[in-house]
Amino acid sequence: MQAAEMVRPALRMITLRPRYPGDLIVTMLRNPLALLGRAAGMGGDVVHARLGTRDLYVLCTPDLARALLSCTDHHLVKERALRLARVMLGNGLLTSEGEPHRRQRRLILPAFDQRRIAEYAVTAAGTAEDWSRERTDGATVEMHGEMARLTLGIATRALLGAEIDDTAGFLHAVDTATRAFHRHTNPLAEVFDRLPLPGTMRLRAARRHIDSAIAGLVAVSRRNGGTDLLHRVEAAGDSAQVRDELVTLLLAGHETTAVALTWTWHMLASHPAAELRLHAELDRVLGPNPPTPDDLPRLRYTRQVLSESMRLFPPVWAVSREAAADVTIGNHVFHRGAIIMMSQYVLHRHPRYWSAPDRFDPDRFSTPDGIRPFTYLPFSSGIRGCIGERLAWVEAVLVLAAVARRWRVESASAAPVGLRPGISLRPDRPMPFRLRRRTAP
Ligand code: HEM
Repeated sequence: MQAAEMVRPALRMITLRPRYPGDLIVTMLRNPLALLGRAAGMGGDVVHARLGTRDLYVLCTPDLARALLSCTDHHLVKERALRLARVMLGNGLLTSEGEPHRRQRRLILPAFDQRRIAEYAVTAAGTAEDWSRERTDGATVEMHGEMARLTLGIATRALLGAEIDDTAGFLHAVDTATRAFHRHTNPLAEVFDRLPLPGTMRLRAARRHIDSAIAGLVAVSRRNGGTDLLHRVEAAGDSAQVRDELVTLLLAGHETTAVALTWTWHMLASHPAAELRLHAELDRVLGPNPPTPDDLPRLRYTRQVLSESMRLFPPVWAVSREAAADVTIGNHVFHRGAIIMMSQYVLHRHPRYWSAPDRFDPDRFSTPDGIRPFTYLPFSSGIRGCIGERLAWVEAVLVLAAVARRWRVESASAAPVGLRPGISLRPDRPMPFRLRRRTAP
């Protein structure tokens, strides 16, 4: 079937033509955001690109994003690279499909209800304040690594009531796993994963490291009577399933939040007016005290800063699905094998929906009504939307408040920073920042 026949005529579908043979697939592998930028710049509702033997459809309107995220057809499955992430994540919530996914989600969801989030927020506030207090004036910190250490600590304490002994080793293994996601976009990935190549061996070693750390966490947590979350995942299946759910929750739960915070520091360091307003809010709301969960409703500008930073740098930059059979989305049929993508990076910066889309302006979020539905989707939505969204918000706001009330953060590198889109949207270089003590309010 030809691409044009697949979608009814009302839809403006544009086909992206390669500039040279292999252009599109090579660009998708090397620099997917450039390909998405090209696609979005063409102005269609859907942009079609032929990638080798596969068809990619990028949905560029909020209505189509809504249709994709609310589609319940069980033939719409996670895209291949995420399926291959099972090498690390197993069959946890992020990678499972169909009825098992629904069952797991129902079981785990109450561990993220309002009462639990309030408890997790206390842990987040305490851990963030410890980090902030322990820093020294004039110190240079590599912010992505530090934020990852901090958010991983919050996740393990909040969800399991335990801490990882060797955080650096664990984060190194996570880094290997994250890099493997890029490898899994390669058409030969299945073959690579079976051969004893250096990358395969590194991935296997990383998995062993992560498994043993999780086993240690579970043992400590059980000795202390376990947590609500642990009891829930234990009810969800055998020990392999427990492992898969916990690896998924800890990996999905810390990396994205760490990336969101890292980009936020980057934005604050380069936007002094926003930084001043943030500090003014923190001084007014907190006075000389560290933030507590009770302060959250009044930390409105702090939340706006995070919202705007996640608009420009969405930690999850695209949601991709594959049609395991012909699938109808928004009254349009996509044929079996098609990859259907909704990109936060495209929608969050689309000039049709945002004025001056590249400008950092936290005031866009001063009234929630100002944001058109389904143009802002950092946590996605629907049955596969982020289960940790509320935890991420309270955690990120409390970390930002606890750190920024005490420290001004200056970039310690003049090198330009680019985007490295993998399983999350990381910066493409280390992010050193110098901490300057603020004078007390
Ligand atoms: C700023 C922080 C975060 C962002 C931007 C984020 C974003 C997302 C997005 C976009 C998805 C959908 C992925 C897809 O459909 O392919 C997702 C799913 C998920 N997230 Fe998050 N997330 C964040 C924090 C967290 C936290 C703190 C946790 C848990 C502790 C978490 C756990 C999960 C899980 C388990 C899923 C899979 C849900 C399912 O398929 O049922 N995330 N997240």
